[in-house]
Amino acid sequence: MNSPVGIDAAAFAGPHACLDLADLAAARGVDPDKFVLGLGQRRMAIASPCEDTVTLAVDAGRRALAAFDIDPAEIGTLIVGTETGVDHSKPVAVYVHELLGLDARCRTFETKHACYGAMAGLTASMDWIAAGRARGRKALVIASDIARYGLGTPGEPTQGAGAVALVVADRPRLLTVDPATIGDYTRQVMDFWRPLYSKVAFADGHYSIQCYLDALVGARADAVGEGAALLDELAACLYHVPFVKMAKKAHQRHLEIERGAPLDRDSDADRQALAASLSSRVEPWLTLNAEIGNIYTGSLFLSLIDLLRQAAERFSGRTVSLFSYGSGCGATFCLGEITGTAAQWASALDPSEDLARRYRLNIEDYERLVRDGEQADTAESLDPTSYGLSDGLFYVGTVDHQRRYVESRAER
Ligand code: HMG
Repeated sequence: MNSPVGIDAAAFAGPHACLDLADLAAARGVDPDKFVLGLGQRRMAIASPCEDTVTLAVDAGRRALAAFDIDPAEIGTLIVGTETGVDHSKPVAVYVHELLGLDARCRTFETKHACYGAMAGLTASMDWIAAGRARGRKALVIASDIARYGLGTPGEPTQGAGAVALVVADRPRLLTVDPATIGDYTRQVMDFWRPLYSKVAFADGHYSIQCYLDALVGARADAVGEGAALLDELAACLYHVPFVKMAKKAHQRHLEIERGAPLDRDSDADRQALAASLSSRVEPWLTLNAEIGNIYTGSLFLSLIDLLRQAAERFSGRTVSLFSYGSGCGATFCLGEITGTAAQWASALDPSEDLARRYRLNIEDYERLVRDGEQADTAESLDPTSYGLSDGLFYVGTVDHQRRYVESRAER
């Protein structure tokens, strides 16, 4: 029998600044409750022009390798899932490969399918290990994205930025994923897209919610069969989180799939059943997403980090469901089991100190970052200190059509 495969290490990294959604609401003349209660979001991470998909991915990758004591030489596959690539041809992954100091004998590529790219990378890595190609090595899958919608559009409060790095290995320390329970779904839909000429995404927002829910029904049916009852055995249900309310809508649909009928909004019993299931299986693991916003490919895995940092000990040996959705659309539903060792890593996984240190932008600063960001790919010279950045790896401009990255350390 093959040894179990799954997630051996994980880490989140995000930009240095954030915008409070109450401030955005005030600037747009919207009731703040619409963003905070209606969408479920408190803040969103905002990247400066010097923080891009590469720098975020490298930061997350370094954190995962260091916190879990993994030698870069152990990595035999590197996959970066992103829909915010920095070049039409050259993959983000190959910059990351160099900056993480990985071995040349490493399969390295980028996956793109809206928010689904990292889940595609996770399952491809599991297949690589199961096929015997890994020869004892591990795969590094990094989800890295910057979510951008136009100023003043309905999508604007659902932006965010960040990266989640996952190390995939056999006998993993955090979560095993049962390959027999992986179900997939694909359908060509125009719910959200970003044409080659645009920095910002376009969305048919309400339709995209419907597409997401249809994909949940389809991928879950492929994973466990249409009529299967699952929820009673699940300790937690994790979903792709473009905004917190979306995960709650998904869970309601999950309940409805199981009972084979829609919940009745006017029934106290139905409302209570939904509230109880949400509060035990879903809501506690959405706190990081509420603070960071949509990080596209990484958002499901950010919710997983939230769960592991809070409940790995309580849920040791228990099963959780994971649902990844990428617009366009592609989806995967699968089941994972929290390992007996996961609780040892709860504090290593916790990004709350970094989040507390973030700089809170005012609306003028935020709009300046957006405007500067539009020019960043063609700027010859960018100064990280002009965005209050001192420590870290930064994008500093494009010279001779080549992107430049610099490691910078603050004088102490
Ligand atoms: P909208 O149309 O401006 O908002 O944009 P709305 O009118 O639908 O209101 C949102 C919620 O707030 C509603 O709650 C309102 O009732 C409530 P619901 O009925 O849905 O439960 N509300 C209030 N609550 C309290 N106090 C108030 C108040 N006012 C309203 N005063 C929309 C919403 C999501 C459409 C927009 O933000 C958008 O277009 N976002 C981008 C698209 C998106 O996130 N889609 C999600 C599914 S697709 C996906 O997940 C893939 C994605 O991640 C991309 C990828 O795959 O790469 C996006």
